Amino acid sequence: MTPNVRRPLVSGNWKMNHDHIEALHTVRDLGLRLKPADVENVTVSVHPPFTDLRTVQTLVEGESLPISLGAQHCSDLDSGALTGEVSPVMLARLATSYVIVGHSERRQVFSMTDECVGSTLRAVVRNKMTPICCVGETAEERERGKTEAVIERQLTAAMDGLSSEEIATVVVAYEPIWAIGSGDPASTVDAEDAASFIRSVLVQQSDVSAGERVRVLYGGSVNAENAGEFAAEEDIDGVLVGGASLDAKTFADIVRAVGACYRS
Ligand code: PGA
Repeated sequence: MTPNVRRPLVSGNWKMNHDHIEALHTVRDLGLRLKPADVENVTVSVHPPFTDLRTVQTLVEGESLPISLGAQHCSDLDSGALTGEVSPVMLARLATSYVIVGHSERRQVFSMTDECVGSTLRAVVRNKMTPICCVGETAEERERGKTEAVIERQLTAAMDGLSSEEIATVVVAYEPIWAIGSGDPASTVDAEDAASFIRSVLVQQSDVSAGERVRVLYGGSVNAENAGEFAAEEDIDGVLVGGASLDAKTFADIVRAVGACYRS
């Protein structure tokens, strides 16, 4: 049984799926399925595409659903001539609580650099939202034994310029790239090793108390069957879920599986 020192987080990253009508149905369904006991020990966030955010915000606030609003990305600047970008100020105005920063798809498909991950993370913190900073290695880096070096490099750039107090509030998601969308998750042992390594790097970058307060999630082919196994690990404080978060029933089952690890 994992001690409940850090409140676990279950985050659903919808990626480029569900338009605002589908978002309405999915979040309403999720809200009906999540009973007070399910969210007593667990925070739940959904991360729809930008065009859905206002719809989901209105629903969540109007019906007092136990769901936090999340975004998948934002600009590192508050305003300016940046065609196609969305400002963290705009997200904060929509009562967005969590923003995924540096997802591997942003890094690989949109050439987001480690430095840009750092400046985006600072922009999210500056706007009083919580970043979920994604780190993780490719299959090739893993084969070459580079997992820890990659994680350390990504974390160092990501946390640059943050105080220990600010680092303590960040969420880090360990998402090995080969496990994302592949149906082939990391083993719980490997995921726990990476999570504990992440915590040790954060302790060096801040201090023991801040490092101990950071929530570390596992992501990559999480489903209702394996979510509880990851969450039961000592340094893993929840999961970042892609494909399996699109269906309200499956996502609610994942929330319950994680919550079960924290009930005494
Ligand atoms: P997946 O995606 O759960 O579909 O593997 C996870 C993620 O990309 O965050």
